[in-house]
Amino acid sequence: MNEDFLAQRLAKRKEQGLLRSLKLNEGLIDFCSNDYLGFANSGELHSLIAHFPVPPQHTVLGSRGSRLLAGNTAFAEELEQFIADFHRAESGLIFNSGYDANAGFFAAVPRKGDIVLYDELIHASVHDGIRMSKVAAISFLHNNIEDLREKLEGINESKPDSQEVFVAVESVYSMDGDLAALSAFSETCENFNARLIVDEAHATGIIGKEGKGLVNELGLEKKVFARLHTFGKALGTHGAILLGSKLLRSYLINFARPFIYSTALPYPALVAIRCAYELLPKADQQRSQLMQLIIQFKKEMKLMTGFEVLESSSPIQSVIIPGNERVRKVAESLQEAGFDVRPIVAPTVPAGRERLRICLHAYNTEEEVKKLFGNLMAFGAR
Ligand SMILES: Cc1ncc(COP(=O)(O)O)c(C=O)c1O
Repeated sequence: MNEDFLAQRLAKRKEQGLLRSLKLNEGLIDFCSNDYLGFANSGELHSLIAHFPVPPQHTVLGSRGSRLLAGNTAFAEELEQFIADFHRAESGLIFNSGYDANAGFFAAVPRKGDIVLYDELIHASVHDGIRMSKVAAISFLHNNIEDLREKLEGINESKPDSQEVFVAVESVYSMDGDLAALSAFSETCENFNARLIVDEAHATGIIGKEGKGLVNELGLEKKVFARLHTFGKALGTHGAILLGSKLLRSYLINFARPFIYSTALPYPALVAIRCAYELLPKADQQRSQLMQLIIQFKKEMKLMTGFEVLESSSPIQSVIIPGNERVRKVAESLQEAGFDVRPIVAPTVPAGRERLRICLHAYNTEEEVKKLFGNLMAFGAR
């Protein structure tokens, strides 16, 4: 079969310096994964999962259908309420991934005539949902409350009564690692009667008491319309939950297509999520080790000259190395030296803001961070 058209498109991508390929990272020191607390590899979590009872009705491997058909279980429903209670939300609906949850929400909840305002650094899954809903959408400057306010004022001047306005932010931004000014965003949304949606993907497990997230830490549970918590990052498993009212849950069951038209997560996956949530409140030691490492990283970085690091108090630390080719080269040299560090290139980030995205984990050591800096410094000097 002639597949020249695919080859041509890939060649064009390569010419533009944008070709993606899969890489194996076995044996490298992990400065790349989202497993911030080490749950994915935790013996304690594995043991909890291994000892979790499997009632006879759950001995089938797959869930056997969408939640709306054969895939629903009392266990899934209880788990949703258990997680909702943990984060102090009224209700929750599990999706197969954070991508599905965001895409499903933004394709289903805003309708023609409504408006979505989103932070310019919002995750691709929100963009894809907005695109599917065909709703009007406007970006505001990253974490810039003034810009959001101006845009909301503009909208308010000619706003029909039936129009709903949605504002999408992340607690911890996935590329820059900085925290949203969430209290200010919440207040502004309240003033303009806009509905705030908070993606807590990178805050889950890390921020707030017992890792409940930034919304909980700031006591904004009642002010936020919907929250996303993902299980594939600090929880070390897979899937996601959208938290909100019972009404929102019913709405999503009716209109969120990734929920309706996809096979539900199977029992073993739900058990892993349940066990990870049982472990989460007990992971203070991992959280404090991680915080110590973040402090050390920032200290070491201050000693480096010639590199810009984005301001971040989260495990995501970005070192700016402008130029796709240059940042790729630096990352390759670090990989050769044994560190799993990945480059983030344009257009994923704006041209000139290409970077090494360094993720810190509770299981990284001070020594590893020191060695990483040694290598980075040597490269910078070359
Ligand atoms: C901010 C943010 N939201 C949503 C997602 C999607 O989550 P998942 O990996 O569970 O699909 C990601 C994943 O990278 C993310 O960084």
